[in-house]
Amino acid sequence: MSESSSPRTAPPPLPFTAAADGGALLRSLTGLLARWLPRQRWFAGKGRPLGGLTLVSVTEVLPCRADGTVPGLLHLLVRTLPGRDHRPPAAQQVPAPSAGAPGEAGDDCYQLLLGVRPVLPPALAHALVGRPADGPLHGRSVYEALADPRLASLLLERFRTPGTLGPLSFSRAPGSAIPTAPPARLLDGEQTNSSVVYGTSHILKVFRRVSPGINPDLELPLALARAGCTRVPAPSAWFEAAGPDTGTDPMTLGVLQPYLPGCADGWQLATGALARRADFGAAAHSLGRATAEVHTALAGALPTQVLHRSQLEQTATAMHERLTAATAAVPALRPYRAGLRRSFEALADFARRGGRCTAQRLHGDLHLGQVLRPAGPDGGTGRWTVIDFEGEPASPLAERRRPQPPVRDIAGMLRSFDYAACQHVASGPWAEAWARASRTAYCRGYAEAGGTDPLGQPELLRAYETDKAVYEVLYEARHRPGWLHVPMSAIRRLAALPPAGAHR
Ligand SMILES: Nc1ncnc2c1ncn2[C@@H]1O[C@H](COP(=O)(O)OP(=O)(O)O)[C@@H](O)[C@H]1O
Ligand SMILES: [Mg+2]
Repeated sequence: MSESSSPRTAPPPLPFTAAADGGALLRSLTGLLARWLPRQRWFAGKGRPLGGLTLVSVTEVLPCRADGTVPGLLHLLVRTLPGRDHRPPAAQQVPAPSAGAPGEAGDDCYQLLLGVRPVLPPALAHALVGRPADGPLHGRSVYEALADPRLASLLLERFRTPGTLGPLSFSRAPGSAIPTAPPARLLDGEQTNSSVVYGTSHILKVFRRVSPGINPDLELPLALARAGCTRVPAPSAWFEAAGPDTGTDPMTLGVLQPYLPGCADGWQLATGALARRADFGAAAHSLGRATAEVHTALAGALPTQVLHRSQLEQTATAMHERLTAATAAVPALRPYRAGLRRSFEALADFARRGGRCTAQRLHGDLHLGQVLRPAGPDGGTGRWTVIDFEGEPASPLAERRRPQPPVRDIAGMLRSFDYAACQHVASGPWAEAWARASRTAYCRGYAEAGGTDPLGQPELLRAYETDKAVYEVLYEARHRPGWLHVPMSAIRRLAALPPAGAHR
């Protein structure tokens, strides 16, 4: 550990015990957090006032010393009061709409890492949460700790020595090397979580909205690592908190994994190719292969189930219901409703004819922004790596962990090719042909690498793609009206398709 925690040399701690004074601490921070939280990208309750906060736990990861010679680090889990109109965060520049059910309410638990210093250096001014006017941290600067490279490095140190600290528990994968004090930087531009990159060796993803149960972004990469699948970075270490109530499962708080230097994500590579009017077929083909490898490994490592008639009919019914709700909210969908319903009716017919499919654990939110590859011309070079197995962050954990048909992931990626092509300045017949070719190449790559050929199950693929496009319309209408034309062009295409499984 660093000198900051040495009992012999360190100054005495503040007259403050996290466990005993948690209530006083939260009271003094509530007003500051109520103003600060809604401004954070990862805060899901935008668009409505914060009803209130309750404290789930507070842990002094590094003591807040009286003389302030070293910054203190507090770990807080706070619960926001549930409210109406609970929306996913406003999308920034993302390849596909941030997932989640718009309008969903929630009793949300947030993870906060707060630094404490007497005075904040100018470089950290942007990270200030506020200065409590009373309570145990009276007059001190409380700030976003992950923005402070020093505190972010000390957090990394904590992973070297697995064990517990109050309600927190730190684990390390056997044999994983954790570097000493590499420079830390907080990544910008994310949606639902915060990630810190350490030098060029590791990246720590800190989940912001947490709930009881293992997060699939730890569960699936661990399962894949055990299965020997190298398409996904293997977790090096992770931390959890005890469940918020008696009998609830631990909550995954963050995952440390190897950083892949020099990579670009699929969205950057695809839009770069579009800007140069370059083909993306080879890149899409190998991305299809990578997806199939990950699906095959997941199907081998975790339970699967066969979906028969009743489950597939239920799926079709749920899709019909989502379309009904979306059409009520977005009148632009109305002219296409009957055409879109044909996609879901074809899925129900497929089920009635004895069609079936295997459900398994999936990525859950697969799109071009969730795959990385060494940067290079024409879609990059080398192996694709798949990241971010969290699933749709706004869906309940139990839903995200449910086995589903692999075609759901494939539909997500296919929609992403459309998104890339539609945002291209020269979008038009050439960009549409680019998207078609990329989509076909992706499906071929998937089938060649042993996945079930998505084009061989046209009813399933079309139903999932239609469902996704309907979701996108609802999302864009609410959050990014300037992007609405992207899913609407897919809606027109899908609604005009002939009924009997003729996908393209
Ligand atoms: N192992 C990694 N190596 C390099 N960059 C990574 C790695 N994991 C994530 N990133 C970068 O961090 C970004 C956000 O990571 P991601 O897991 O997708 O978080 P979020 O849930 O916020 O989308 C990615 O788009 C990518 O740029
Ligand atoms: Mg992501």
